[in-house]
Amino acid sequence: MSFPNVILVAHPVIQTKLSELRDVTTDHREFRALLDEIAGLMVYEVTRDWPTKPRVVRTPLEEMTGHELARKVTLVPILRAGLGMADGVLKLLPDARMGHLGVYRDEKTAEPISYYHKLPPDIAETEVLLIDPMLATGGSGSAAIAFLKQAGVVNMKFVCLVAAPEGIAAVHRAHPEVPIYCAAIDRELNAQKFIVPGLGDAGDRLFGT
Ligand code: PRP
Repeated sequence: MSFPNVILVAHPVIQTKLSELRDVTTDHREFRALLDEIAGLMVYEVTRDWPTKPRVVRTPLEEMTGHELARKVTLVPILRAGLGMADGVLKLLPDARMGHLGVYRDEKTAEPISYYHKLPPDIAETEVLLIDPMLATGGSGSAAIAFLKQAGVVNMKFVCLVAAPEGIAAVHRAHPEVPIYCAAIDRELNAQKFIVPGLGDAGDRLFGT
């Protein structure tokens, strides 16, 4: 199956850490550390095509024109599990501002329920990375992207770890122009709309709930 606008970041180091993350015997302390590391490793690929602008710097020897990112960066984790990727990304993009979107899945219907939002006022002019480790039905991701579009965001990427084909298709149907980056595309959703093989409930494993 091929997915337009989906970039699979299949780096061997990421794949190794992802397998550890999936392991049912990995406790919340290890889970947190691994999620943080994988998120950081993905940044390199996710930001690869960001535009730069010239920046004049004086080295100890002479003046030269280097480069810097053309736009400011805003990181938007989908609460709660997206928070587990934030620090890893911030280590590489320490100047990024953060917005927060609270969305959870109704346990019976799997429909997304929004409960919180706070975004930087100038988010529309920035590069936005929407982060959430799980893309299952795509309901949460699609709702979050729609909210960011309403706030005027145009330069946006959705960064997740594990995606289900159904979720990718749903996000793509609603928002075909938004690239999706993930470290794995798993087989399917089960009857409870959980990604299989997946890694379980990322929020619960991350926070020990
Ligand atoms: C999980 C996950 C995503 C969402 C994915 O969050 O972190 O946000 O489900 O599912 P979807 O693609 O079907 O919408 P959850 O609802 O468990 O909330 P939590 O992060 O607070 O645990």
